[in-house]
Amino acid sequence: MLRIGIVGASGYTGEELARIISSHPGAELTVATSRQFAGKKISEVFPNLRGMVEITLENVALDELAERADLFFTAVPHQTAMDIVPKLLAAGCKVVDLSADFRISDAKVYEEWYQAHSAPEYIAQAVYGLPELNREKIKATSLVANPGCYPTSIILATAPLLKAGLIDATTIIADSKSGTSGAGRAALVGSLFCEVNDGFRAYKVGEHRHTPEIEQELGLLADKPLTISFTPHLLPISRGILSTVYASLKDGVDADQVTAVYEDFYRDEYFVRLCPAGTYPATQYVRGSNFCDIGFKVDSRTGRIVIVSVIDNLVKGAAGQAVQNMNLMCGFPEGLGLGVVPLFP
Ligand SMILES: NC(=O)c1ccc[n+]([C@@H]2O[C@H](COP(=O)([O-])OP(=O)(O)OC[C@H]3O[C@@H](n4cnc5c(N)ncnc54)[C@H](OP(=O)(O)O)[C@@H]3O)[C@@H](O)[C@H]2O)c1
Repeated sequence: MLRIGIVGASGYTGEELARIISSHPGAELTVATSRQFAGKKISEVFPNLRGMVEITLENVALDELAERADLFFTAVPHQTAMDIVPKLLAAGCKVVDLSADFRISDAKVYEEWYQAHSAPEYIAQAVYGLPELNREKIKATSLVANPGCYPTSIILATAPLLKAGLIDATTIIADSKSGTSGAGRAALVGSLFCEVNDGFRAYKVGEHRHTPEIEQELGLLADKPLTISFTPHLLPISRGILSTVYASLKDGVDADQVTAVYEDFYRDEYFVRLCPAGTYPATQYVRGSNFCDIGFKVDSRTGRIVIVSVIDNLVKGAAGQAVQNMNLMCGFPEGLGLGVVPLFP
């Protein structure tokens, strides 16, 4: 059995990791950390886990942590992860980091958007953990930088077109909407019921921290640097992201070509489901699952393509993708433990 540690098990992504690992046949949770809830069972913090996961949360000193598991998920805020991850790696553990600390390959760019980096020497060994793009590299690494939730939805929506050179890479606009769990479980005014319910707002327009991560990965696919317009919105739902991505098609590109490129790119990808022509995905059709559903429309009137993608931000956007990466790093079948049928309605 692979021994699993979750650092930050009292957060939303930590809970999802515990939930998914509880039904993984090759892995068992041996340590789960929390400062606030140390001494309590995880099922007292998350009653949905009652009888399924009964591990006690602990505030374990960093020096003692590494010996308690073989692979760690660090489900803590950015800036916190960069102090923990190097110590776990140095002790010989594998790490899937859910924060942004190792996602941006240029430390200077990271520091422009976040804050000073205390372990920039580890960035080069981190593999960006989007299995659909980086499967072979993920298999060979000890450190995966698990992608952000918005980036997962936008990169998977756009990758086939950029790789095949069907769109003008300077014209990408991503308009994304997220459920409130995307902000984590901390008590924030912006996440209060009255601030979120019965309304809909844009936030961090043109300045959201996921922007450099998205541009980095789309630039690699296009084989040249690019910029995008990215506008996130907050939805009054608990979980789910829907991204609508617009781009201008190159002259002469038609719907048949676009369809062939998507079908070819995702033919063998179990977790990416293409919607039948003329139909579009919805967050409730992927809820609780590791699927990313994608639908698109070639708008010949405007010369643009409109792509709609949905994920569960806590699963394909975080914990599910992290377990998919764990499976690749540890030689398990890629989908092991991730066979959940989406919860609908
Ligand atoms: N929510 C999403 O949809 C989502 C998606 C993709 C990626 N992520 C990323 O995943 C990470 C976790 O997100 P989340 O939504 O699960 O956050 P969260 O609900 O706020 O949970 C954060 C966790 O980190 C622990 N923590 C906070 N500060 C710490 C510190 N200084 N030292 C040790 N532990 C600390 C907290 O536990 P205690 O305070 O009890 O110690 C808690 O368990 C973040 O980096 C986030 O950006 C989140």
